Amino acid sequence: MLLVSPRIATRGWALATQALSHPSWAVSHLSNFNEAMYDRKHPWQWAPAESLSVVDALQKAGGWQEAEIRAVLDELVAPTGPESSTLTVDQDGSSEFIQLANAWCRLAKPQLVLETGVAHGFSTASILQALERNGSGHLISIDLPHLHPDAIKTIGAAVPKELRSRWTLCLGGEVSTIPRAMSARPEPLDLFVQDASHSYRGQLKAYGAAWPFLRDGGVLLSDDVSEPFDVFARRVGRTPIYVHQPKWRPVGLIVK
Ligand SMILES: C[S@@+](CC[C@H](N)C(=O)[O-])C[C@H]1O[C@@H](n2cnc3c(N)ncnc32)[C@H](O)[C@@H]1O
Repeated sequence: MLLVSPRIATRGWALATQALSHPSWAVSHLSNFNEAMYDRKHPWQWAPAESLSVVDALQKAGGWQEAEIRAVLDELVAPTGPESSTLTVDQDGSSEFIQLANAWCRLAKPQLVLETGVAHGFSTASILQALERNGSGHLISIDLPHLHPDAIKTIGAAVPKELRSRWTLCLGGEVSTIPRAMSARPEPLDLFVQDASHSYRGQLKAYGAAWPFLRDGGVLLSDDVSEPFDVFARRVGRTPIYVHQPKWRPVGLIVK
């Protein structure tokens, strides 16, 4: 007879119940897993020919002056949400990615921003902070919860309560949730911030799902990019801008 410890059995039961209550989440997790396996079997080498600093990238993409970019970057403060004291920005999005998302929102004053990949909510909080300072705009965030029921509580835990009135959080896989979330909004998308799936095929699918909703002149910003970002930029006939960050892969930016 196979013996399983009560702790493992309870955990297994909780995961199975959650998967049955949210079959689309289970399907998205399976898809993430398949795409990660594909990447392991088909590794690729890629590095951008050029990568810029945050300030240079914002100057190139938006035409703002260095002084006004530095002024908004100086005003970015770390999030103070319910659980932020135990977290550091380095656990989640890099400071370059967070600075770009915040500064773009301060300078371009978007009315609608869509973000995929929330985790504790550092990028979320930085975007909401910018919208609040602008006095206008709304953020839709999408995240796929882990199947353990307690995992949902950590999504966006660092987002301060006073910034949440401009925020809609949608739970689910990014590729299927993007059209669902966007079809409920009448206005076009000004900024799409992708930081959910990090696999080759997952990132390509996410860019493709959001692109039709992005207005001309709108921006696609993605963390930890590599070849799929370059492939996508060529596919839509745009020149990508890359921003250097100390960790892993650069941040990518495309103006539509
Ligand atoms: C790197 S973290 C996001 C960090 C966050 N943007 C920040 O800067 O602090 C990635 C998040 O994406 C979520 N995720 C992974 N695959 C996803 C998918 N297919 N659809 C939606 N969310 C996904 C994970 O649950 C995780 O919370």
